[in-house]
Amino acid sequence: MLERRPFGSTDLNVSIVGLGAGQIGESDVTEAEASEVLNGALDLGITLIDTAASYGLSEERIGRHLGRRRDEFVLSTKGGHGINGEPDWSSGSVLWSIERSLRLTRSERIDIFFLHSCPVEILRRGELQETLDEAVAVGKIGVAGYSGDNEPLAFALESGRFGAVETSVNIADQRNLRNLPSDYPGPGVIAKRPIANAPWRFRERPTGHYADLYWQRLQLLDLDPGELDWAELALRFTVYAPGVHTAIAGTAKLDHLRRNVSASSRGPLPAATLEGIDRAWRRVGSDWPAST
Ligand SMILES: NC(=O)c1ccc[n+]([C@@H]2O[C@H](COP(=O)([O-])OP(=O)(O)OC[C@H]3O[C@@H](n4cnc5c(N)ncnc54)[C@H](OP(=O)(O)O)[C@@H]3O)[C@@H](O)[C@H]2O)c1
Repeated sequence: MLERRPFGSTDLNVSIVGLGAGQIGESDVTEAEASEVLNGALDLGITLIDTAASYGLSEERIGRHLGRRRDEFVLSTKGGHGINGEPDWSSGSVLWSIERSLRLTRSERIDIFFLHSCPVEILRRGELQETLDEAVAVGKIGVAGYSGDNEPLAFALESGRFGAVETSVNIADQRNLRNLPSDYPGPGVIAKRPIANAPWRFRERPTGHYADLYWQRLQLLDLDPGELDWAELALRFTVYAPGVHTAIAGTAKLDHLRRNVSASSRGPLPAATLEGIDRAWRRVGSDWPAST
């Protein structure tokens, strides 16, 4: 069975690899493909699915294809801005987001709701943390979370107001690891972009593609995956990184998901491989900010 971990100090348990459901929200992914990946994820033992209000068709597809299996997985979603008629990052936009996610995902409760890249100035006001606490108190959401990176992530963690965080962690993006709590119990931690957007699929620099930044960083890091394939090297680094509870590899392909589950189950990378990644990071990467 796919390993599970306690999700920080929450009462949730999560599989060590989750499904990032950004890709299944794309309109060029068919309903049949979305259903195959979503149901396949649960059949493979994945118990965490991560989505967002801004991921196209993702939330409604989760509702449509997994509505009847809703008690088999932890659902995390994100929102709080871009809501028609409500100012961004107001209590109204957060509450509206939660209601919309409940309806689209056919859920009675959102297990983890993240403020999606909320600016640090807004976090400092504290108003939205109160809104989330009230949503927890009335049972609309289970855990109040913050999704972000760099300084806002550090602020969110230090504030102690969030039961979960979602943040970028991968071989080419290690900055946030510095901020993750090493003590337990602390917030549950979801690693996003865990395989660095798979930049090795591009022979030439993919200018303008979302993998562009990590493609450039991998050139500079000059890592050697040895006998492992790149996806396995990247995912095993993230899944077993200190402070990470689960890594949400994003895919719309069941075959990739199967490989990700198998790779994660092979355990942490050998010490010599980790040392090589660490040396490369300290040589060129230690000043790189996290990708948001
Ligand atoms: N909170 C935020 O602001 C934020 C930002 C970014 C991401 N996220 C979350 O994190 C999840 C993952 O992030 P991400 O999708 O940006 O990055 P990622 O998981 O590092 O990389 C995903 C890319 O890798 C490919 N891929 C997946 N498994 C593969 C495998 N075994 N072999 C080769 N290629 C593989 C996928 O394409 P295929 O579809 O072809 O497999 C996809 O293009 C998202 O789905 C989303 O839930 C959140």
